[in-house]
Formats: sequence, structure tokens, C-alpha cells
Amino acid sequence: MTQDEKKKAAAQAALKYVKKDTIVGVGTGSTVNYFIDALEDVKRDIQGAVSSSEASTERLKAMGIEVFDLNSVDKFDIYVDGADEITKHKHMIKGGGAALTREKIVAAVAETFICIIDDTKQVPMLGQFPLPVEVIPMARSYVAREIVKLGGDPAYRQGVVTDNGNVILDVHNLTILNPVELERQLNAIVGVVTNGLFANRGADIVLIGNNDGVETIN
Ligand code: A5P
Repeated sequence: MTQDEKKKAAAQAALKYVKKDTIVGVGTGSTVNYFIDALEDVKRDIQGAVSSSEASTERLKAMGIEVFDLNSVDKFDIYVDGADEITKHKHMIKGGGAALTREKIVAAVAETFICIIDDTKQVPMLGQFPLPVEVIPMARSYVAREIVKLGGDPAYRQGVVTDNGNVILDVHNLTILNPVELERQLNAIVGVVTNGLFANRGADIVLIGNNDGVETIN
């Protein structure tokens, strides 16, 4: 199977977690785009979606799926999203598509985080994929200097402005032995909006597209 076929298989497997008359939390990225496409089959049975990016919102609306403002929704069952890296502890790096902050917010409200990936995203330790950090623009240089003190090598993602009007620093060369602690440390730097470690709130269920089909890790 190609990587895209694996992504699609994982995305379609997530459909079975979508319950009738509920609101579905929707992530961002190429794997999630397959999930949004798959919602075509059930879109008349759900109330609608809460979205983690302008890009996903646009796609959902184009399919006629209502997108609710998160402030008008108390809670919902599932949040479906991809990842750039994931460990066996279900800790993730996300934010390759720069949507990390809204993804983390929507995930926080959901009962269950369902991560859909192809098997190339599984890693023994996080950090090969540069860790995205969303930063208030005026704090960019200060935050970069603080990240260097933590042992990272930050690179400004040129030409990218997040949906929240901020910038992204991609942090290279991190040895992430304790993702829960590093997530906390990075978020404590003034000027950081959030970082792409999803460890304090990791995934609950992982659906992995591989050559044998879809593996489920609960
Ligand atoms: C978006 O900001 C990211 O967190 C994505 O969820 C992540 O980059 C996975 O994207 P793909 O499904 O495109 O690999």
C-alpha cells in the first residue's frame, strides 16, 4: 500500500466511532482530509463538526456539514486528527500544518482523541520531526533564545502565519526523553502560545494504516 492508501484506510476506520446526532471534532492535515471525505457517508446523521483550522472548516462547509463555534459547544465525544510522530505511549508531535494551537484546544474539549496515521508516523522517541512552537510575533527572537537554552535549535518557518495571526518556530535536534515535562517547559516561556507536543493530553485510540490493513491501539 502507498502512504496515501494507508492514510485513507486509517481515516475510514475512524468512521465507526462517529455516533448518530453528535458533533464531531475534526483536526487538520492530509490524513484528516481523507476523514472529512469519508464523512460524506454519514453527514446526514450527525449534527455537525467543530473544526481545528480554517482549512478544515472550508472543506467541511463545502460538503454541507455545519461547523459550530467551539464556544457554543459544552462537550463532544470524539476528536479525530493526524500526527507527525507518535510513540507507543500515545505521545505526539503535531503542528506540521501549523494548526497545533486550535488542535490542542479542540482536543482538550473532546472526550476521546482518535489519532489516525500511516505507519511511518510511529517512532520509538519523539524529536526527529522538528517540534513546532507557535509564538506571538514580537516574542520570536526572545523565545528562540530561550529554546536554545533548553538544548533546541529553533528555525523560523518563513512565510507562515497561523490562523491565530502568529508565527511558528520549528525546533530541531531535541532529545525528547520526557515529553510531558518538555511540553510544560516550552509553554512556560513568555510569548509561546503553545507547542506541538501532545503529551499531557495524548491520544486515546490510535488507528494505524499499514500493509496489513488498519491496526487499532486502545
Ligand atoms: C497540523 O497542524 C498537524 O498537526 C497535522 O495533524 C499533522 O501534521 C499530520 O498531518 P498529515 O496528516 O498531513 O501528515
